[in-house]
Amino acid sequence: MFRHLYLSVLLACLLVPSLAFPPPDLGKDGVNVKFPKPQKYTGPMKIPDREHPFKAPGPGDKRGPCPALNTLANHGYLPHNGVASANELITATTHAFNLGYNFSMAVSALAVLGRGNVLLDKVSIGGEHRLVPPLKGKIDGTPGGLSKHGRFEGDVSMTRVDAFHGDSGVFRMEMYEELLSFVDRYGDGDIVTPEVFAEYRFKRYNDAMADNPVLTWHSGRLGFSYGEAGFILNLFRNSKTGNLTRPDMDKFFIEERFPDNWYRRETPFEFNDIREAVDVVKDPHPVRPGKKDANGTYVLDTREVNPYLGTSCGTYYDLLVPNIAAVLLKTTGQTRKNVDTYLDAMYNLFIPFNCSGRLLPEGPAEL
Ligand code: HEM
Ligand SMILES: *[C@@H]1O[C@H](CO)[C@@H](O)[C@H](O)[C@H]1NC(C)=O
Ligand SMILES: *[C@@H]1O[C@H](CO)[C@@H](O)[C@H](O)[C@H]1NC(C)=O
Ligand SMILES: *[C@@H]1O[C@H](CO)[C@@H](O)[C@H](O)[C@H]1NC(C)=O
Ligand SMILES: *[C@@H]1O[C@H](CO)[C@@H](O)[C@H](O)[C@H]1NC(C)=O
Repeated sequence: MFRHLYLSVLLACLLVPSLAFPPPDLGKDGVNVKFPKPQKYTGPMKIPDREHPFKAPGPGDKRGPCPALNTLANHGYLPHNGVASANELITATTHAFNLGYNFSMAVSALAVLGRGNVLLDKVSIGGEHRLVPPLKGKIDGTPGGLSKHGRFEGDVSMTRVDAFHGDSGVFRMEMYEELLSFVDRYGDGDIVTPEVFAEYRFKRYNDAMADNPVLTWHSGRLGFSYGEAGFILNLFRNSKTGNLTRPDMDKFFIEERFPDNWYRRETPFEFNDIREAVDVVKDPHPVRPGKKDANGTYVLDTREVNPYLGTSCGTYYDLLVPNIAAVLLKTTGQTRKNVDTYLDAMYNLFIPFNCSGRLLPEGPAEL
């Protein structure tokens, strides 16, 4: 009898893994979102320190489309399971990469608003995770995590395929090898130069034009995709030597691990630096935001799609207004309070550009 019970419990555990590991307390009362204070020291620093050695992800650990967040999770600067709060994202990216504080706050807020759970202040840096359940009543579908296409993850990435072709969250070695062939052609020996990304990014744009019939490349996403090329040049760079080398870039993309003897940049990378970095990569081959229509024709965005097109306010508008679910404004209590905290964090980045005040999400909810 006892033995029988034991066997059936064992069996149940094998069949229903969730029984073997009871769901953690998801804190349905939620958390009151708080952001960390800016770091005091903002100069160069050796990363990682002794407390953050590399540890490869295990079976349940989430990794996704961002090589930097994956690296931070592999070193324990973010939780190793790949589920993080905005606070943790800000602390990790400002500390380990010297990402600008205001910029980090805004993108971390966008990540949770778009692909996480705003009541619990959690987002998966990869695919869905049980620690990031839907909001009550599934008012905005399942959060999905940063790997889910749309809102943050988008087309014309450098080392991930467009969602039309498959899982856009996973690293593709063959794409990275193509990027390396551009280092061979446009780099300075082993040094990865801006020309490499000017040419490779344009190649990726032409690829997507040719082979993605549902290409969506609105200005927010266009800005991010060029900004990310700028991140590689300016944030994966070793401030000890001054340059980004090919072996160091391999470390970040292939192993998702900090290179040996690596130092973060000398100064925080602020939004103005990002805007400059975008121009450096984009100016040699100007491209314009748009979206393919039902006939597969690429239709350029107009002021009807984005009233602030061509300005930094256009980026703000694009990332928030049509992109984030309007239903979040209909929530109450702690959920609504957190939504406001995230919206404030996004607004703060754009205050200097005199957009018409704090914008609000008007986007559709997800199913
Ligand atoms: C809280 C901060 C951050 C968030 C929420 C975030 C999130 C993301 C997401 C969702 C993507 C996928 C976009 C796509 O479809 O291509 C992405 C791509 C990328 N991120 Fe991050 N990221 C953050 C910080 C950083 C930092 C600090 C770096 C560099 C040090 C970085 C480097 C990159 C690069 C290079 C890509 C493009 C990969 C590719 O195109 O193949 N990110 N990030
Ligand atoms: C960051 O935001 C604060 C608050 O709006 C502002 O005072 C500060 O100048 C911003 N920092 C940068 C580098 O833009
Ligand atoms: C970085 O690379 C450039 C050439 O692309 C070179 O002029 C410069 O000296 C390098 N910097 C260091 C510190 O090696
Ligand atoms: C697609 O092409 C057909 C035939 O030329 C045309 O009637 C239709 O309006 C087009 N649709 C769009 C969305 O442009
Ligand atoms: C925003 O407005 C202020 C005050 O009118 C002005 O000094 C500043 O140059 C404007 N900034 C931008 C980016 O237009």
